[in-house]
Amino acid sequence: MQTVAIIGSGQMGTGIAQTVAQHGMKVMLADIDLSRAEAGKAAIDAALGKLVGRSKMEADEAVALLGRITPVGEYAPMEKANLIIEAATEREEIKQGIFESAGKVLADDAIMASNTSSIPITRMANYSPDAERFIGLHFFNPVPVMGLIEVIPGLATAQETTDRTSAFAEALGKQVVLSQDEPGFVVNRILLPMINEAIFVLGQSTAGIEDIDKGCQLGLNHPMGPLQLADFVGLDTCLDIIRVLYKTTRDTKYRPAPLLVKYVEAGWMGRKTGRGFYDYSGDAPVPTR
Ligand code: CAA
Repeated sequence: MQTVAIIGSGQMGTGIAQTVAQHGMKVMLADIDLSRAEAGKAAIDAALGKLVGRSKMEADEAVALLGRITPVGEYAPMEKANLIIEAATEREEIKQGIFESAGKVLADDAIMASNTSSIPITRMANYSPDAERFIGLHFFNPVPVMGLIEVIPGLATAQETTDRTSAFAEALGKQVVLSQDEPGFVVNRILLPMINEAIFVLGQSTAGIEDIDKGCQLGLNHPMGPLQLADFVGLDTCLDIIRVLYKTTRDTKYRPAPLLVKYVEAGWMGRKTGRGFYDYSGDAPVPTR
């Protein structure tokens, strides 16, 4: 893969762009308009600045990496991409619009991938021009740091597409876990019920925020507790994923915790809005309950 187009310049899209460019490939970064895509590139610039400041990256490497990322305001230039990765909001109608529009410029031998964390690949392949060249490519946050990528072929995905996509993931220095196209794939099917259960534990006042997180950090050796992690992923994203699990399986074990729904309705989405289970307005996060 030499040129990769990424649609969505939020937390995941920028992390993917940074990682791809770090491995010598050219990146086109798109969002709903050019200014959003440019803001995404500026966020990458800021992340690289921190790495350079902490002597984790040479300044000239950061300049070269940024030089490989081009923000774009339309899909037309993506006709040159070998791979188009959609990393937009976890809503099927938004993704559908992207696959239909970007599909018009998809090169004949290029692959179209979705970074969805839970929406069925087999169904979304219908929105793309060629289901044989459509696949799930699920990254983990923070993308430059996390060692895993899930690769999810849909029912109609060609073996060649799976092989080329897995080779791309490995070229980024990541390990691949191949998952069947089942709700939540492997990791989120396990992670989201844990996060959701932690919110039930909080809602039932079994323990407070800090103790729930401390319990999992010290008792399970997790780097972050489930409520910290929920804030990190975004509470809206957590709710979207658990809702997909609930809707697609109709299994009540995936019913969203009422407190999660309330927080999202309040606009408390976690780190990105400055407040979730913790308040991020000061120097260190402070539990809100
Ligand atoms: N680019 C490159 N490197 C970065 C970076 C970036 N944007 N951000 C952080 N790093 C590096 C740091 O430089 C640091 O490197 P060293 O170890 O070499 O010093 C390392 O990452 C750790 O960073 P920090 O020291 O700043 O912070 P930390 O030690 O507290 O670790 C963390 C932060 C990596 C996020 C850690 O807390 C962690 O692993 N948390 C769990 C994350 C997790 O579970 N992610 C999965 C979420 S689920 C998901 O993504 C899927 C989904 O669909 C919902």
